[in-house]
Amino acid sequence: MGAANTICLHTHTPALFAEAVARAVSLLRAGAVVALPTETVYGLAANALDPEAVARIYEIKGRPAYNPIICHVASHGLARRCVADWPELADRLARAFWPGPLTLVLPRSELIPDIVTAGGPTVGVRWPGHPFIQAVIGACDFPLAAPSANLSNQLSPTSAGHVLKQLGGRIPLVVDGGQCNVGIESTVVDATGPVPRLLRPGMIHEESLVAVAGELGSEAGGGVLRSPGLLKRHYSPRARLVVLRWRDEAELRRQLAPWQAVPARTCVVAHANVPAPKEWLRVSVVPHDPEAFARALYAELHHCDEAGAGTIVVEGLPEGPEWRAIADRLSRAAATMD
Ligand code: TXA
Ligand code: MG
Repeated sequence: MGAANTICLHTHTPALFAEAVARAVSLLRAGAVVALPTETVYGLAANALDPEAVARIYEIKGRPAYNPIICHVASHGLARRCVADWPELADRLARAFWPGPLTLVLPRSELIPDIVTAGGPTVGVRWPGHPFIQAVIGACDFPLAAPSANLSNQLSPTSAGHVLKQLGGRIPLVVDGGQCNVGIESTVVDATGPVPRLLRPGMIHEESLVAVAGELGSEAGGGVLRSPGLLKRHYSPRARLVVLRWRDEAELRRQLAPWQAVPARTCVVAHANVPAPKEWLRVSVVPHDPEAFARALYAELHHCDEAGAGTIVVEGLPEGPEWRAIADRLSRAAATMD
């Protein structure tokens, strides 16, 4: 399939929206894989109940077979069809945060094929907040298996353009639902036990989860890889990414010297101490507010890659629970391969 074979449909009028829903639904019913907007990042969706369609997702992304895929639903009824057990804890979390950027890991039902769960006993379920994917799921009446719509280990897409850049030519359809409002992937919580456990931080942060669930366990230090998305290097731009703090530009340059990062090939993403733009390849300012920062982050990193950056410097983040998921994504993007 050449890049021109990927159709991009828009959704900004009611007629275009309805037409794009109809096209997506007919492709999904036929077993195809399509890219759809969600409020976190764009997803690469297929009928979760069709193992062959889900196998195509793995193939298109180059995703390893051990990494399970989240099932997207658009009602409590459909969520419950995906799981063998719907504990009180799941119900409380779902009622507080769905539709929204929270994935609940629960015992899978017999309906869910092995390939979705990577052979494991649990399934991740999420009711996304974006009206487009909600309309598609509502019309299909089956859950949609959807990982982020990027090649494995590369940056997640927060616009249709990002998807086309990585997957153009590999899928028949990308639906443009605008820039993702959350901007980083959902919080993943294991709700199989009496205490929920955080498997992947997201913008629904620990304190919000504790407020609803009463307590929260963590994978950290457990030594068991329960969520393959917690592999150290993930969500990476092509350029080397470093997180630094500086008071002025001289201090920034001094810190970059050991990295042999020349300003002309270095992009700076700053939120408090913004260097003068003239010698750097690119200087961008992201808002000093966690929601707006998360919304802007991946688009900035995509821009830096496009500018041909050798190095991306991101200014260190403030402390606090609402910054933790962003810090997590930055540290994974910055991790070296070893
Ligand atoms: O916001 C999101 O979650 C986006 C949008 C498209 O919904 N999806 C997304 O999917 O980020 P993906 O596949 O890129 O990341 C899903 C993460 C992976 O780290 C995967 O290992 C974990 O969720 N996961 C999925 N099912 C799981 C399960 N049954 N047990 C543990 N972890 C699971
Ligand atoms: Mg992903």
